[in-house]
Amino acid sequence: MRSRKLSHASRAASKKPPLPSRKKIDRMLKGLFKHGYFGVRDHCRLCEIASRKTAKQLNAAGKAKVDPIFVSRGAFAHDIFRHLAEKGMNEERVAIRYFEKMGFPELAQLVAPMESLHFQRITPKNLDKLSLEQKIVLYADGVCRGVPVAYDKKGNPTKWGQDIFALKDAYGTLLERHLSKKGSVKGKIRLLDKEFFSKWLIELELIRMGLNPEKLIKDTRRAYKVWKRKSN
Ligand SMILES: [Fe+2]
Repeated sequence: MRSRKLSHASRAASKKPPLPSRKKIDRMLKGLFKHGYFGVRDHCRLCEIASRKTAKQLNAAGKAKVDPIFVSRGAFAHDIFRHLAEKGMNEERVAIRYFEKMGFPELAQLVAPMESLHFQRITPKNLDKLSLEQKIVLYADGVCRGVPVAYDKKGNPTKWGQDIFALKDAYGTLLERHLSKKGSVKGKIRLLDKEFFSKWLIELELIRMGLNPEKLIKDTRRAYKVWKRKSN
């Protein structure tokens, strides 16, 4: 408790945006288990690690000065209302309003582009309007994906795990999922293409600023495995 108070105080002293405690976010993510969303906490943890490591790589390259705690907290928190999607609600917008109401407007801004309707309005032309921090979190969410790890006899996934991919492979996992569904998927694939085109541009920008995607994958996987072992 004491150390958390100190870290809040030091963030305020250095004029860094206030953030909800990691413990509170984690409690909310664990609360998703009772709605059957067992993989969301793991996904958010993976995004948290990837965002922090991206920020650190860019800072080390000397071309940016990113607050690793800010971006990683946003990545950890971005899916806290995932269960609301089932009720037809815009869960990302609920999260944005929740952070604003709780007194974390910067965090609300950070995760705002992750709101799917908002993201669909992002084009290569207006990508510049996003902050570097928003791009880091969007990129982490793009490369951290759920993957089936067990199947039933008909080949339907029965168990999901989480992994971080090269962007082209993350695109591939989603394309495959769309194509495996019955009916017309043209519209969905068009949106997917649009989304990943913007994410490719983000990746190029991050690479120019010092990101090494292969190292990011390796380091994130390693840290996630350690966390997973400890958290089980
Ligand atoms: Fe996500």
